[in-house]
Amino acid sequence: MISYAFIALVPAVLAAQAPQFVAPQQGPTLVSSNYVGANNGSLAKSTVVPGKVFDRFTQVWMENTNFEVAATSAAFIELAKQGIVLTSSYSTTHPSEPNYAASVGGDFWGMGDDDFYNIPANISTVIDLLEAKNISWATYQENLPEDGYGGFEFTQPNYLNSSAPPYTYYMRKHNPPVLYDSVTSVPERLARIRNFNDFAVDVNASAIPQWVFITPNMVNDAHDTDIDFGSDWLQSWLVPLLSNPNFNDNRTLILLTFDENETVDINNQIFSILLGGAIPENLRGTNDSTYYTHYSSLSSVEANWELGSLGRQDTNKTVSNVYDFLAQIVGYKNLNVSGNDIPLTNLTGNIPGPLNAQFFVPFAAPNVNAVGAGGGPVFISPGMNVSVTPQTLPAPVNLTALNETVPNAGPTSATGSSGAAATPTGPTSSSQVGSDAVKLVASLAVVFVAGGTALFMV
Ligand SMILES: *[C@@H]1O[C@H](CO)[C@@H](O)[C@H](O)[C@H]1NC(C)=O
Ligand SMILES: *[C@@H]1O[C@H](CO)[C@@H](O)[C@H](O)[C@H]1NC(C)=O
Ligand SMILES: *[C@@H]1O[C@H](CO)[C@@H](O)[C@H](O)[C@H]1NC(C)=O
Ligand SMILES: *[C@@H]1O[C@H](CO)[C@@H](O)[C@H](O)[C@H]1NC(C)=O
Ligand SMILES: *[C@@H]1O[C@H](CO)[C@@H](O)[C@H](O)[C@H]1NC(C)=O
Ligand SMILES: *[C@@H]1O[C@H](CO)[C@@H](O)[C@H](O)[C@H]1NC(C)=O
Ligand SMILES: *[C@@H]1O[C@H](CO)[C@@H](O)[C@H](O)[C@H]1NC(C)=O
Ligand SMILES: *[C@@H]1O[C@H](CO)[C@@H](O)[C@H](O)[C@H]1NC(C)=O
Ligand SMILES: *[C@@H]1O[C@H](CO)[C@@H](O)[C@H](O)[C@H]1NC(C)=O
Ligand SMILES: *[C@@H]1O[C@H](CO)[C@@H](O)[C@H](O)[C@H]1NC(C)=O
Ligand SMILES: *[C@@H]1O[C@H](CO)[C@@H](O)[C@H](O)[C@H]1NC(C)=O
Ligand SMILES: *[C@@H]1O[C@H](CO)[C@@H](O)[C@H](O)[C@H]1NC(C)=O
Repeated sequence: MISYAFIALVPAVLAAQAPQFVAPQQGPTLVSSNYVGANNGSLAKSTVVPGKVFDRFTQVWMENTNFEVAATSAAFIELAKQGIVLTSSYSTTHPSEPNYAASVGGDFWGMGDDDFYNIPANISTVIDLLEAKNISWATYQENLPEDGYGGFEFTQPNYLNSSAPPYTYYMRKHNPPVLYDSVTSVPERLARIRNFNDFAVDVNASAIPQWVFITPNMVNDAHDTDIDFGSDWLQSWLVPLLSNPNFNDNRTLILLTFDENETVDINNQIFSILLGGAIPENLRGTNDSTYYTHYSSLSSVEANWELGSLGRQDTNKTVSNVYDFLAQIVGYKNLNVSGNDIPLTNLTGNIPGPLNAQFFVPFAAPNVNAVGAGGGPVFISPGMNVSVTPQTLPAPVNLTALNETVPNAGPTSATGSSGAAATPTGPTSSSQVGSDAVKLVASLAVVFVAGGTALFMV
C-alpha cells in the first residue's frame, strides 16, 4: 500500500509505484471544491469563425510517457479506435516547459529547463494570429487557483488523501500562454487563462472557444503518477466529453498528446492521437505515419483558418507538417521526413537561444518573408525590431560563466498556496508586480475563507 504523504514529498520517486486514481470532480461538467479556484462565470459566446475542416481545435497534453507505453494502455487502445493515431509524432526537446512554450510561440528559445520565464511582449504567439481573425481561444488549467494566475506553482489541500500534506497540483511550466508577456499584459487575455471550474460552466453554456489548450493537473497528466493513473483520468474526464455536443461536434478536432517521451537516450517520439467529430468516418481507427512535431499543431491551425504565421518554426517545412487529412483537403504539400532525416530532439539545452544561459543569444525578429501553411502574413508585434535577424545576432555567450542569468528569468520561489501558510505568488511580468500582488493577497483571503470545505474534503 502506498502512502500518499510520501507522494507529496517525493513525487518523482513515486512515479513508478502507481498510486490509486481519485477523480477530483464527479464529472467534467461539475464544479468541484477540490479546485480552489471558484468558477468565474462563463465566457461570452462568440461568433464561430468557420475553418476549412474544423471550427474548434482542442489539445489535451499528458506528460512524460514513451510511445509504446501509451499505445498499450487501456484508455489509449479504446480511443485509438475512434481516431487517427499519429505514429511518427515527436516532441521538440526536453524537459517539459520548452515544449509547452513551443506549442504556442513556434520556438522554445533555447530553453533547457523548467524555470520561471517571462517571454517579452514583442514575441508573438498563435493567440495573435487567432485574434487577428476574431477566433476565440482559452486555456483550461486544472487546479489553477484563479484566472490569469501568474505564479510558479500552487499548493493546496491534498484531495487524493485528506490526511496527507498539501500538494502542488498546478505548475506554470505546463501553462503555455502564461509564459508570454504578449498574453499576460492584456487583461482580456488573462481572463482566458482559466481553470476546470470555469471549464464546467463554459461547456454547459456552450461557450467553449474555438482554440483550446487543456492541461490536467500534475497527477492526472501522469507526470507525478503513471500512465494507468492518466488513463483513469481520461476515462473520467475526456471520454464523457466526447459525446457532449457542447465539447465535441462534427466540426471539432481534438489532439491528445504528450509533451515528451520518458527516456532521453532515445529520440523523442510521443503518442499522439487525433479525435473528434471532424475526423472523417473512414479514417477512424487508422494510423498516420507522417512526421509531426508540436509545431504541427500551429501549422495545422494556420492552414485550417488561413491564418498568418509566426515566422518561427511553424513555417519551417521540416518540422511543421500539417495533419495529413487536413493537408489533403486544403491542398498543402507536406514534406516526407523519415528514417535518419528525423531530427534528434532528445537533446537538452544544446540549442543557443534567449532562454539558454549557457548559449545565450538575444531574441531575433521572426523571418518576415516566411510563408506558413495558412498563407497569411507574418505577424509582427508592436515593439519588434525587424532588423534584428539571426544573422545580425552576436555569437552565443555563456552567461553562467559570467555569473549572470538570462534577462527573462524570474523568481522560481514564486509559489502560492491555499491554507494557513499562504505565500503570495510572483509577478506575471515585471510591469504587473503591483497590481498582481494586491489581487493575489485579496484572492487568497477569499480562498481561505471559502476554502473551509475544500480544506477538509475527502
Ligand atoms: C494518507 O496520508 C496519511 C498521512 O500522511 C497516511 O498515514 C495514510 O497512509 C495515507 N493514506 C493512504 C490511503 O495512502
Ligand atoms: C473582428 O471583429 C471586429 C469587431 O467586431 C471587427 O471590427 C473586425 O472587422 C473583425 N475582423 C475580422 C478579420 O473579421
Ligand atoms: C475572475 O475574472 C476577473 C476578470 O478577469 C479577475 O479579475 C478575477 O481574478 C477572476 N477571479 C477568479 C476567482 O478567477
Ligand atoms: C452542467 O449541466 C449538468 C447537466 O445538466 C449539471 O448536472 C451540472 O450541474 C451543470 N454544471 C454547472 C457547473 O452548472
Ligand atoms: C453536423 O452537425 C450539424 C448540427 O448538429 C448537423 O446539422 C449536420 O447535419 C451534421 N453534419 C454531418 C455531416 O453529420
Ligand atoms: C538521442 O537519441 C539518439 C538516437 O537514439 C542516441 O544515439 C543519442 O545517444 C541520444 N542522445 C542523448 C543525449 O541521450
Ligand atoms: C522514444 O522515441 C523513440 C523514437 O525515436 C522510440 O523509438 C522509442 O521507442 C520511444 N521510447 C520508448 C521506450 O517507447
Ligand atoms: C497502428 O500502428 C500500431 C503500431 O504503432 C499497430 O500496432 C497497429 O496495428 C496499427 N493499426 C493500424 C490500423 O494499422
Ligand atoms: C528547420 O528544422 C530543422 C530540423 O530541426 C533544422 O535543422 C533547421 O535548422 C531549421 N531551419 C530553420 C531556418 O530554423
Ligand atoms: C523585444 O523587446 C525587448 C523588451 O522591450 C527589447 O529589449 C528587445 O530589443 C526587443 N527585441 C527585438 C528583436 O525587437
Ligand atoms: C558555462 O559555464 C559554466 C560555469 O562556468 C560551466 O559549468 C559550463 O560548462 C559552461 N557551458 C558551456 C557550454 O561552456
Ligand atoms: C563568479 O562567481 C564566483 C563565485 O562567487 C567567482 O569565483 C568568480 O570569480 C565569478 N566570476 C566572474 C566572471 O565574475
